[in-house]
Amino acid sequence: MDKTMNAFQEEILAGIPAELPEAKAYDPTINHAPKRKDILTPEQKVLALKNALRYFPKRHHAALAKEFAEELRTYGRIYMYRFRPSYEMYARPVEEYPAKSRQAAGIMAMIQNNLDPRVAQHPHELIIYGGNGAIFQNWAQYRLVMQYLATMTDEQTLVMYSGHPLGLFPSHKDAPRVIVTNGMVIPNYSKPDDWERMNAMGVSQYGQMTAGSYMYIGPQGIVHGTTITVMNAARKQLRKRGAANTDDRGGLLFVTAGLGGMSGAQPKAGNIAGVVSVTAEINPKAAEKRFEQGWVDELHRDLDELIPRIRKAVAGKEVVSLAYVGNVVDLWERLADEDIHVDLGSDQTSLHNPWAGGYYPVGYSLEESKRMMADAPEKFKDAVQSSLRRHVDAINRLTEKGMYFFDYGNAFLLESSRAGADILLPDGRFRYPSYVQDIMGPMYFDYGFGPFRWVCLSEKPEDLELTDRLAMQVLGEIAASAPEEIAGQMRDNIRWIDEAGRNHLVVGSQARILYADCEGRTKIALAFNEAIRDGRLKGPVVLGRDHHDVSGTDSPFRETSNIYDGSQFCADMAIQNVIGDGFRGATWVSIHNGGGVGWGEVINGGFGMVIDGSEDSARHIREMLFWDVNNGIARRSWARNEGARFAIEREMERTPSLRVTLPNIADEELIKSVL
Ligand SMILES: NC(=O)c1ccc[n+]([C@@H]2O[C@H](COP(=O)([O-])OP(=O)(O)OC[C@H]3O[C@@H](n4cnc5c(N)ncnc54)[C@H](O)[C@@H]3O)[C@@H](O)[C@H]2O)c1
Repeated sequence: MDKTMNAFQEEILAGIPAELPEAKAYDPTINHAPKRKDILTPEQKVLALKNALRYFPKRHHAALAKEFAEELRTYGRIYMYRFRPSYEMYARPVEEYPAKSRQAAGIMAMIQNNLDPRVAQHPHELIIYGGNGAIFQNWAQYRLVMQYLATMTDEQTLVMYSGHPLGLFPSHKDAPRVIVTNGMVIPNYSKPDDWERMNAMGVSQYGQMTAGSYMYIGPQGIVHGTTITVMNAARKQLRKRGAANTDDRGGLLFVTAGLGGMSGAQPKAGNIAGVVSVTAEINPKAAEKRFEQGWVDELHRDLDELIPRIRKAVAGKEVVSLAYVGNVVDLWERLADEDIHVDLGSDQTSLHNPWAGGYYPVGYSLEESKRMMADAPEKFKDAVQSSLRRHVDAINRLTEKGMYFFDYGNAFLLESSRAGADILLPDGRFRYPSYVQDIMGPMYFDYGFGPFRWVCLSEKPEDLELTDRLAMQVLGEIAASAPEEIAGQMRDNIRWIDEAGRNHLVVGSQARILYADCEGRTKIALAFNEAIRDGRLKGPVVLGRDHHDVSGTDSPFRETSNIYDGSQFCADMAIQNVIGDGFRGATWVSIHNGGGVGWGEVINGGFGMVIDGSEDSARHIREMLFWDVNNGIARRSWARNEGARFAIEREMERTPSLRVTLPNIADEELIKSVL
């Protein structure tokens, strides 16, 4: 073993070091989380410090108390910067981790991939994406977790409370190695300020979706979903216009905002979908990062220069992604004033987190906003709300001229309505659909199609290439006899996987995503397992998914916004989903309060599964993926969604032991006559 690897392993095994490591200088070249608001009472500040010091022996308390108090004052949180590890942060090939459990080593690689500075949004604050999507609350938790994972066996389970490792508990080899809960609070205490308070005290965290469940794979995960969404939004527009070929997207203009963690996928998706895209991003660091990574083609700082560039790109039917480094409201207003025809519009600012850096109000620089949100939070809130009113007004002007606008799951409609913007119809419904209501729900989720992903733990690009080929082969075979209802979805995904390698989508680990239904996911996973067994793949593979799926998430304004039986505010599905995955073979499961659209607004869950070519892995694949997809289809079918009814009846024909309660459809006229 070489010296660096030895030091890496030793540092992991040491957990929280006995002696204090050198204090780390604040690195200004890294993208840092904004200062969080000063929300704690003096008594709660005492608690925050006592809570932080729980991780360390008493002899260090005098030094650390002072330092942590300073962090709390300066950043509104105690990150314990001093305890950032000294090794470089990225996912190593799985055999380089010190471990007694191969599954635990796989989880360590996933954690390090999430924290890789190429992948994470604010890596030093342990924020992976979405402004507040945390993997851990502080570096002591990170160190302890890595130590637990390095020393645990396949007969133990690590219990995670919002980033805090409660400990290792005896279990058995079929049990999950890790159970994660994030942000689970008593429902009456689930307002955004409750998160601020509990997070500042170090007792809870916002795990977003894949951040707190170690399943984030950089923007690729979302490029795919965004590509599918943009392609289908364009098809809708072209169909509305009576176009003969709804796949001829040349010259269509797509305007949106956000080049952050997930939103950064939009320009790339625009290019893959073959349109002209314009994305506004107020933070120059975020914009430059995406430009350097080749995810956006051109950066423009001046609207006078950008507007003619847009006209030229549209006229020339260029496939190009332009970014406006500035406030999206300025962009929308200018587009409306210039009477530019926009075909598709959306928004991916982090409006799930409007008061703490997710949305920057028009009329203020980034720095002014950052100061205001910490020093004058009420004024900041007013600025955000008045910005949203202007934002919506400009969008309304363009939709009146034919633009198709959709909410992209960032709580844009919800927060705009709360801000009093002109976003509601007379009957109280939103003026615009969510992308799930129009696209993802009826075309994908109801049929069981969702964001299946995998990571090659060998970290070898050739392993990823082989998995791409295997996935394509499996999907091709299924598509040959797929019913009409799902043939289009299969075609789009085959094209995606065929082009994925050429599009250089990997940032961080050797990972891939596609959308597949239960049959597709299971057959692909079994093909990987075979290839590991016979040595064609050089290492184990992690299977997982985004929480943004058929069954994992109850989110009334997003994943379950096309549930119309009144149960969209119930969260039984997400909870049942994660419990069921937990005893059917998942290597880790997670359940979160708040992914995507905000704390208190959604319950979402996910899983990870390390497969190693064994018969046990094959069994886990068959049993767990079946449940993971079909429980959500069954619920969607019970909600009278036609596609889901079709899909679950088809599954019952294939699987005699599946028996699902099907709804009887009542006659509306009959009901009206008796009420
Ligand atoms: N439905 C989905 O599949 C889906 C996918 C991706 C993201 N989302 C949601 O979209 C949002 C964005 O996610 P993210 O990970 O990219 O978050 P992020 O915080 O990393 O990125 C958002 C970006 O928007 C920029 N921004 C904020 N206000 C702006 C303004 N007024 N003008 C211009 N730029 C502005 C920020 O600087 C930031 O870089 C989140 O709410 C997320 O939950 C949903």
